[in-house]
Amino acid sequence: MPNAIKIGVSADILAPAPGNSLGIDVRNMFRENVGAEGLDHDDLLLLAPHLRRAHDELVAKSVGGLDAEFACLNLATEMAEALPQIKAAAAELKCYQDILLIGIGGSNLGSKAIRHALKPEEDSAPGARTSAAPRLHFIENIDSYHMERLFRHLSPKSTALLCISKSGGTIETVVQFLILRDWLTRALGVNEARRRQWLITDPDHGWLRDLARAEGLASLPVPPQVGGRYSVLSAVGLVPLAALDVNVDALLRGAADFSTRCVSPAPEENPALLLAALYYLLDKRKDKRISVMMPYVNRLRLFADWYCQLWAESLGKWEGTGPGRSAAGSLPVRAMGAVDQHSQLQMYLESRHDKMFTFINLEHWDHDLAIPLDAGTRRVFPYLEGRSLSDVIHAEFRATRQVITDAGHPNMTLQMPVLDAYTLGQLIDLYQRTTVYAGLLYGINPMDQPSVEIGKKLAIQNLRHSAG
Ligand code: PA5
Repeated sequence: MPNAIKIGVSADILAPAPGNSLGIDVRNMFRENVGAEGLDHDDLLLLAPHLRRAHDELVAKSVGGLDAEFACLNLATEMAEALPQIKAAAAELKCYQDILLIGIGGSNLGSKAIRHALKPEEDSAPGARTSAAPRLHFIENIDSYHMERLFRHLSPKSTALLCISKSGGTIETVVQFLILRDWLTRALGVNEARRRQWLITDPDHGWLRDLARAEGLASLPVPPQVGGRYSVLSAVGLVPLAALDVNVDALLRGAADFSTRCVSPAPEENPALLLAALYYLLDKRKDKRISVMMPYVNRLRLFADWYCQLWAESLGKWEGTGPGRSAAGSLPVRAMGAVDQHSQLQMYLESRHDKMFTFINLEHWDHDLAIPLDAGTRRVFPYLEGRSLSDVIHAEFRATRQVITDAGHPNMTLQMPVLDAYTLGQLIDLYQRTTVYAGLLYGINPMDQPSVEIGKKLAIQNLRHSAG
């Protein structure tokens, strides 16, 4: 099998092709680079029939557009039709100075991650407006201090509410929405307040959908087959991002183009299948129970959070039942380069060999800054001569990857040519697809979250039965 040796170094997968494609370097996942803790190419070969079955299942369950069981993998192409409606909603929202996006988990992590990556200057809470686009505030965790602060800084006249919940009944979202719509209603009256409320929710079911019908509120659907954490490429992510002038066409194009790299059942020709296989094998064969994602791009911090939720909520499940059952999935952890070199790294290097690493490196930095030296600083830091900030962060990344490799930890690198909507779209498709493949390899359902649902129900029971 001559190909077997090449699986880790396939030019197709490694080299960023023309047109800003994501590069994926998995060589350090293998024994020849990382030593005994790495995989053998035979491990991948032995998994081949299992990989083919997972691929066939993914393909079969993706048939049928938005009605497919894995409809989330079709959003990149299927949402084109809904884009005019999404952009029209965004255009109306843009008339307001402040948009309060009320939602939690899959209902906001994707838009938060992309906003942070592409519009980090918009991240700040109340305060100066930095562009003509509205300020988007994420109302997520319950915190009355935060809510009170919003009331002090925002004017109901220039504020719109965008409430996002697939189920339409998540309690954190509902209670904050109730408070905020009451605030609007008291200031502006019922009709004016209703004009400022947009809902994104299931097309047929749930309290929010009933409310939209009863009060004639503006609303957009979340496709019924698309679960929260897989919904960033639906109205859930696209409406708020379009309101911030993020290029949502490029985001969808990036994801759609990436999906064309994932049509083969052979891992050496399908990066998502390859990654799923490697993460799975490292867990099963090498006891790598922790999967650290470490971007060397500050603006990808929240992307790593999005990945953590996607991976944990999709794969954190029992394989099988009864006493023989075993846990699927590795625990996703976010670390930031270079900050965590001064924190987590020591423990990564001198602790159990239970971790694998995914680095994200950015090749081209906009607004790179040269490091100014005078005679004195040149004498102390001669190696900074002619260097810029991007040279330093690249050196930090290479050094960390080297020590992690030398310490025998399997690792891979995602190489982003640039950071824009198109490359983020690729990353999103890569991880959604990889997560689904991984779920199929473990033999669990990557789309549900039964234990999370139990917790949600118990919180409500608690409210029912505890004294007010
Ligand atoms: O991925 C998921 O399904 C969850 O994280 C949900 O997005 C989260 O619980 C919020 O649910 P909802 O969108 O129904 O309010």
